[in-house]
Amino acid sequence: MARRKKIFEGKAKILYEGPEPGTFVQYFKDDATPVNALKKDVVEGKGVLNNRLSEFFMTGLNAIGVPTHFIRRINMREQLIRAAEIIPIEVVVRNYAAGSISTRLGIPEGTALPRPIVEFYFKDDKLDDPLVSEEHIIAFGWAGQQDLDDMVALALRVNDFMSGVMLGVGIRLADFKIEVGRVWEGDFQRLIVADEISPDSCRLWDLRVDEHLERDQIRRDPAAMPDAYTEVARRLGVLPSNVTHATKPTLIN
Ligand code: TMP
Repeated sequence: MARRKKIFEGKAKILYEGPEPGTFVQYFKDDATPVNALKKDVVEGKGVLNNRLSEFFMTGLNAIGVPTHFIRRINMREQLIRAAEIIPIEVVVRNYAAGSISTRLGIPEGTALPRPIVEFYFKDDKLDDPLVSEEHIIAFGWAGQQDLDDMVALALRVNDFMSGVMLGVGIRLADFKIEVGRVWEGDFQRLIVADEISPDSCRLWDLRVDEHLERDQIRRDPAAMPDAYTEVARRLGVLPSNVTHATKPTLIN
């Protein structure tokens, strides 16, 4: 049997050549890498949960007209996606202060921001994904002005959708990161949401108990991570039947 071709291996996922031209298979690993490659743990079942959760969010986004790379889930750890040329910028949207914005600007964690704030980070692990401005992005040719406008519009639509979905299950979306890719449709290029949307790339705060359900949790208490991710999936009704970590309502990272 022919071995499928690996296109790329990242910290949490592997991309393989897809069954048809213009497609990839995205495989979700169990590796937990909260701070780039500084720490590497394996959290059993995380890949299965993130595959399901990313499917759930991307299917919802596709349904409301926000284009994503997601085509369909293949199995517990793999999904079929559209091949896209990834723009080397991470787009972060923040609703509440936490993490690097709290450190950088001295804003206490949990402070509601006056409006959703969109930030850009250059994707480069060696540089630890530095914050960059639109000026940098355009001057260095990482994306054009139209791309940036489209990226902001996409990110804000994702924010509205994700904030609403999460609020419905008692979770506050403090912030999140998306990646954006280019695809061609005939003569036209368009930008789509790529990579994954999962608790690995969000800060999720439980509105009922003051606990964090997303990846910050693993920095404080790695043992709680599977429970947190499972709790997010459980509340959203997308828990795969054979993943049974959660025994009690806990933080979602
Ligand atoms: P930060 O506060 O560390 O800048 O992170 C903001 C949000 O973006 C948080 O939800 C985590 C997410 N994020 C990633 O998932 N990967 C990254 O490389 C970066 C910079 C942020």
